[in-house]
Amino acid sequence: MAKEINKIGVLTSGGDAPGMNAAIRAVVRQALSKGKKVVGVKRGYAGLLQGEFIEMEARDVSDTIQRGGTILQTARCPEFMMEEGPKEAAKICKENGIDGMIVIGGDGSFRGAQKLAALGVNTIGIPGTIDLDIACTEYTIGFDTAVNTAMEAIDKVRDTSTSHERCSIIEVMGRHAGYIALWCGIANGAEDILLPERYDYDEQKLVDNIIENFKRGKKHHIIINAEGIGHSAGMARRIEAATGLETRATILGHMQRGGQPTCKDRVYASTMGAYAVDLLCQGKSNRVIAYKNGEYVDFDIDEALAMQKGISDYQFQICKNLSL
Ligand code: ADP
Ligand code: F6P
Repeated sequence: MAKEINKIGVLTSGGDAPGMNAAIRAVVRQALSKGKKVVGVKRGYAGLLQGEFIEMEARDVSDTIQRGGTILQTARCPEFMMEEGPKEAAKICKENGIDGMIVIGGDGSFRGAQKLAALGVNTIGIPGTIDLDIACTEYTIGFDTAVNTAMEAIDKVRDTSTSHERCSIIEVMGRHAGYIALWCGIANGAEDILLPERYDYDEQKLVDNIIENFKRGKKHHIIINAEGIGHSAGMARRIEAATGLETRATILGHMQRGGQPTCKDRVYASTMGAYAVDLLCQGKSNRVIAYKNGEYVDFDIDEALAMQKGISDYQFQICKNLSL
């Protein structure tokens, strides 16, 4: 017989992502609608270890679904990666009557959630990261907003790049994952995309491509460079020297992590938040919610963390072809 959950904690961990508030709001209201108590944990695992809890009622999440960031704040917490961290957290949960915990974050946060679950706190993960780099799911909270923000910014750079007949290197977020760069590459019609998963560091190939491109009558050359490759300013200087074309670098940075969530992020995050509460109410633990093949599903966290996903070869290739 699964133990009944009475008090549910919710926290956001790792990088923030637009739509996290929609997920928090959904957790709070779905739980209250089922007669459960809800506690918001401030600043991710760091706040959990400090016992930074706030009792949450329906009105505490009013006026939040449309806001970027996370009302609970987020943090990276190295102590949680040590053996004592999760043990202390499980003890604090027990002392405070928290028998279910919902962790909104990425793979790193799920590793913490896995440990909490193993220590007897029923724990569910919700994928929240603008990077889309969680293998078990085709959707992560924040990616849709971030990629739309980046796309709109790149459109603007493209206008001025065309007017001046320049090469523009635009750096988007993604230290280990090139999904934002790939999607913008296709959505913005970029001439080149440099992804951490694919880039061969052959700058001469880039230079040749830029020269060919202008010979074919193009009025700009847009290179979308993922943060994981970085060094956009130096790359711009070298490309300008090698091609003779004015080249500018723009780093979009953290603006991609903020702003009002798109409709998709609000709806998917809300659904996942409610789903996480339902799983806890069914006595489930150590699960992560995913969106796969058009459906919301859940996986064992151990299985989810063992899954792999990569950049689509086909999309990578067509991105090049479509900018001909
Ligand atoms: P994300 O959740 O977006 O992948 P991080 O990798 O920065 O972000 O992880 C967020 C937090 O999750 C870390 O600061 C740490 O507190 C916790 N965490 C990460 N890896 C582990 C681990 N192996 N064991 C326990 N906790 C972890
Ligand atoms: O949240 C994901 C992410 O935005 C990555 O794309 C990026 O590499 C990293 O976080 C940046 O983290 P920080 O906020 O520490 O600069």
